[in-house]
Amino acid sequence: MIKGVFPVEKFHQLNTPFYYYDIALLRATLETIRREIEHKPFHLHYAVKANANPRILREISSFGFGADCVSGNEILRALECGFTPNKIVFAGVGKTDREMEIGLDNNIFCFNVESIPELEVLNAIASKKGKTAKVALRINPNIDAHTHKYITTGLTENKFGINEQDLPQILKLMKSLMNLQLIGIHFHIGSQITNLTSFEDLCVKVKELQEWFNRKEINLPIINVGGGLGINYQHPNHIPMADFESYFRLFKKNLQLQPNQELHFELGRAVVAPCGSLISRVLFVKEGIKKKFLILDAGMNDLIRPALYQAFHHIENITSNKEAALYDVVGPICESSDLFAEQIMLDESARGDLISIRSAGAYGETMASQYNCRNLPLSYFSDQL
Ligand code: LLP
Repeated sequence: MIKGVFPVEKFHQLNTPFYYYDIALLRATLETIRREIEHKPFHLHYAVKANANPRILREISSFGFGADCVSGNEILRALECGFTPNKIVFAGVGKTDREMEIGLDNNIFCFNVESIPELEVLNAIASKKGKTAKVALRINPNIDAHTHKYITTGLTENKFGINEQDLPQILKLMKSLMNLQLIGIHFHIGSQITNLTSFEDLCVKVKELQEWFNRKEINLPIINVGGGLGINYQHPNHIPMADFESYFRLFKKNLQLQPNQELHFELGRAVVAPCGSLISRVLFVKEGIKKKFLILDAGMNDLIRPALYQAFHHIENITSNKEAALYDVVGPICESSDLFAEQIMLDESARGDLISIRSAGAYGETMASQYNCRNLPLSYFSDQL
């Protein structure tokens, strides 16, 4: 089996656990996306929630992409890391007044609004400042993304988005909200979507709504289809990049944009997941009754995806070349869910070996916590070691 290539000698000198980012892969990914969308009216706002590490954000902004933020602090971080305000969108079901002010004060491109009370509050705050907030309505398309229930967001029974039947009432209301300007509609159906037919279903819905707005003679410059493109977690060495070509081709084929209409994307995971690995040391190999446990110095506080979503991450021992054996790979935290993988084959492992947990660049570092008063994991970059 091919293993990932890592600067193991250098890793030996570092304290574990840490996130390691392959900058060459990140740049190749960004270059691929740029190539796929250039010469089309397509724009990417990278979903900052996937990875907000300043170095990673700077790489992404240097390619000219925008940012999709879900908090006031994400907006400030994006600005610090080179994203221009007119390429920042602000989403989220629960924006505070202060966060709306941050968006308005920095003249961001657009607020993705998810409810009637949010429209009213945003209008009031904008009015106080003598500003106009540009708004896209997040519409719940009621589409099954066929993904984990915690990361599916487009179904009717969801806290996200505005239901279609409320649209007439909202448009009527917006006529009286003088400090809002409707510029588009926004969707997001879920995350880690690998069956692209869900995006075809989304296009059908988008078309219906384009026509609905047309009939009402409402011009919509922006159609935002959110993020969600999945990656291959099973084979990071063989398939190190998401299938951007098929993804963007699907939208080109299935949507007809009107003149001056732009299609916006909010990819997060597909941009950053493959380039990140969580590097950890084996503390102990514990012989159980029927199992061997590999106890790592990384835990669920460093990477919560396996514990929270039963997510699969490919794991490798990057310092052993011995005959493989079966292990449960666990962290040091006193919770049974602090488990990275059960009964997987790994090269025979010993105390001090280095373990790489792959495809952890998205929702890894950003979701890390200090549970058990542990330190937050550090980060290193392939071109700085
Ligand atoms: N736009 C909106 C409105 C979103 O809610 C999200 C993700 C994205 C874009 C980016 O989606 P992506 O391209 O990354 O799939 N922590 C979970 C994933 C949560 C996704 C939440 N929303 C995980 O580790 O799998």
